[in-house]
Amino acid sequence: MKAIVVPRYGGPEVLSYEDVADPVPGEGEVLVRVEAASLNFADVLLRVGRYHQGADPPTIPGLDVGGTIGALGPGVSGLQVGQRVAAGLGGGGYAELAVARASLVWPLPDTVSTETGAAFPIAGITAYNILALAGRLAPGETVVVHSAAGGVGTTASQLARLLGAGLVIGTVGTAAKAQAAREAGCHEVIVRGEEDVAVRVNELTAGAGADVILDSIAGPTLTGGFDYLAPFGRLVAFGISSGEPGQALSSQLHPLNRAVVGYSSGHYRRYRPDALRPAAEAVLGLLADGRLRLVVGARFPLAEAAHAHALIESRASIGKILLAP
Ligand SMILES: NC(=O)c1ccc[n+]([C@@H]2O[C@H](COP(=O)([O-])OP(=O)(O)OC[C@H]3O[C@@H](n4cnc5c(N)ncnc54)[C@H](OP(=O)(O)O)[C@@H]3O)[C@@H](O)[C@H]2O)c1
Repeated sequence: MKAIVVPRYGGPEVLSYEDVADPVPGEGEVLVRVEAASLNFADVLLRVGRYHQGADPPTIPGLDVGGTIGALGPGVSGLQVGQRVAAGLGGGGYAELAVARASLVWPLPDTVSTETGAAFPIAGITAYNILALAGRLAPGETVVVHSAAGGVGTTASQLARLLGAGLVIGTVGTAAKAQAAREAGCHEVIVRGEEDVAVRVNELTAGAGADVILDSIAGPTLTGGFDYLAPFGRLVAFGISSGEPGQALSSQLHPLNRAVVGYSSGHYRRYRPDALRPAAEAVLGLLADGRLRLVVGARFPLAEAAHAHALIESRASIGKILLAP
């Protein structure tokens, strides 16, 4: 089959379109004929050697695919060859064929396209869990979504409203992305670098602050979150796109009953895949009845994965990026 291989760590140019051996599903695994794969920022981290769940090169990136079931490994029940599915992977999605654990394969409702299936697993499940599970969002609360125009960001902004948030404030790196964040459901959008996030959030909430902060940037963005996290608030740390860890002092937490909670879908996939099912089912239900829409900003042929990586790294991408084998 054709696949994109990371032969060594490096820039987008290392991504190599090659013939590789077809994967074979083992015990409890499913072979998926890939019709679409989606990009995640973790694929970039994998390529540069900084993804905490990543395999060493040579390796095939790709955590999410949509397609049809080509074969079932021993011991798999409840799924059928030919069924249209979305699948979450530990890697290997940038390919014509991919192997997934059966617990991370979700049959797609008729109203959900295979492309949406490819876009949903990491972005949809992460967005749901950072709000509902890690963020413990309660109706009426204020949520700050950093990188609100991105794949997780556009999904989390919509889901925050669907889960009952009273005020959704997005932040984006450039003014060009503010409209996309608004269209995804942010009531207010702050352009980081042009405006002080803490000052604006405190203004917008009449000094109350944010009840939930979704932070995938870390570094000074996370550290600065304590200037506007409300008493009883939860700061969810789920990424490090700035490349720098952020810092929380215990003295910023206990006096105000505030919490910092870490979240990783990749870690759940590896160690507790079944625990992702409630989020997957909830998100697929919202996609099926049209209340949630995954924003797709760009599509590339699989062979052009390097262009797709350059786009997400440029920080100019909107929503999800898809690859088609
Ligand atoms: N823990 C988990 O389970 C999990 C799951 C999915 C994603 N994530 C994390 O969530 C974040 C978003 O992921 P995504 O796949 O949806 O990507 P994305 O948001 O579509 O694209 C990445 C975005 O990160 C922002 N960013 C901030 N600082 C950056 C920097 N120094 N270099 C590059 N980008 C920077 C940019 O948006 P702005 O400039 O507008 O901020 C950029 O557009 C990533 O940090 C990712 O690792 C975590």
